[in-house]
Amino acid sequence: MDIEEFRKHGHTMVDWMADYLKNVEDLPVRAPVAPGETAAKLPSSPPVEGEPMETIFEDFKRDIVPGMTHWQSPNFFAYFTANSSPPSVLAEMLTATMGAQCMLWQTSPAATEMETVMMDWLRQMTGLPEGFHGVIQDSASSAILCAILTAREKATDWQVNADGLDTVGKLAVYTSQETHSSTEKGVKIAGLGVNALRKISTDDAFAMDVEALTRAIEKDLADGIKPACVVVSVGATGVGAVDPLRAIGEVCQRHGIFLHVDAAWAGSALILPEERWMIDGIEYADSLVFNPHKWLFTNFDCSAHFVRDPDSLVRTLAILPEYLKSREADRIINYMDWSVPLGRRFRALKLWFVIRSYGVGKLQAMVRNHIAWTRELEGWIAEAPDFELTSARRLSLLSFRYVPPGISDETELDALNEKLLHALNDDGRVYLTQTKVRGKYVIRFTIGQTYTTQTHVRNAWNLICETARNTA
Ligand SMILES: Cc1ncc(COP(=O)(O)O)c(C=O)c1O
Repeated sequence: MDIEEFRKHGHTMVDWMADYLKNVEDLPVRAPVAPGETAAKLPSSPPVEGEPMETIFEDFKRDIVPGMTHWQSPNFFAYFTANSSPPSVLAEMLTATMGAQCMLWQTSPAATEMETVMMDWLRQMTGLPEGFHGVIQDSASSAILCAILTAREKATDWQVNADGLDTVGKLAVYTSQETHSSTEKGVKIAGLGVNALRKISTDDAFAMDVEALTRAIEKDLADGIKPACVVVSVGATGVGAVDPLRAIGEVCQRHGIFLHVDAAWAGSALILPEERWMIDGIEYADSLVFNPHKWLFTNFDCSAHFVRDPDSLVRTLAILPEYLKSREADRIINYMDWSVPLGRRFRALKLWFVIRSYGVGKLQAMVRNHIAWTRELEGWIAEAPDFELTSARRLSLLSFRYVPPGISDETELDALNEKLLHALNDDGRVYLTQTKVRGKYVIRFTIGQTYTTQTHVRNAWNLICETARNTA
């Protein structure tokens, strides 16, 4: 394809993108396709001759789009959102066009310096104290892995990096029963073994029980096991639990344990001063992650990882072969030393576009609306005699179940709510997902999509009521 053809197709595709975003709410939110259906439409071997872009684009619209789940639909209330926005998409187009690899300062000086500045903008926006330094990771999972690796090295005085795990005693990592699975994955990848992970029990609000944490640490110490890391959840995935950071921080400080805060979803709400209670005690934390790619209108992937002591992170990860040495080394940051992959995309640009285009005030208003509409939904659920709120609203997340009169058997209620969820998602007008609360099957509802309005939430609730009453 020559550049003039690229220009022509680019214009056509931008028109398609605008129409897609305008009309995405009319598409079934969850892809109504069976496993294997899309693969069966694709040729099993690659073409030898190039094909016209018109044909490729038509095939995309006919065969691929219907097989996609539409995360940018305003009727997407599942998982946590991965919201984006027009300014973010435009930045991604520029990023893709330049195709820069931002591993070293010298391979992309402007990208590197913008990353430093954008992370400091985010630090200020979220009320994190000075002294936290940021890096953009591909995912919160990567940030958690980096935290566990750094904690492992600090706890062993960098001996594992040098000589391997079999030269040190056992280590332990602590988190709550509500934690996201990425903590367990990080512990596995770090070579500690899943049995090194202590899943601490939670209280009535699903937050980590600090006394149980203290007991677990003391038991490990008595058994000759070294506590290396505590991962605190600020907005855990199931029902949005927020662990008591200050009390946990005091325990960590007492025992010299690395403290990582996983705020992957809820961290975006820290742009609201009224939600910063969630990080009371942040002065004790060694690192924190949150995902602008979840709830800050920035395309996946963009994970904001803040560390208090970059030197420890770099000492844990850095390797400098001859071919990556650069002459400015002592005056610049090479972000390849701050993350597991060497190669890095130019992710800061989309943050720059999003934050400048909306301004902090508008971003705050959008997140605040999501929270207000969830509060309203919580009220409707509380008023409905045949529904039950199964966990209190946390920011813009709540869970509920349908409990029609005359049914009290828990197994029957589980089956009924599972049937309701499938009926809703098969219908296609909304997309919701489930979790378990104290062993009960419940439906999660989270609001965070860029194009969602109060009307979408009201319509979704009406549809849930209608479907439930027809399902029972
Ligand atoms: C609380 C929490 N932590 C971590 C993650 C992992 O995020 P990522 O997909 O960026 O690795 C998620 C994902 O939903 C999450 O909800």
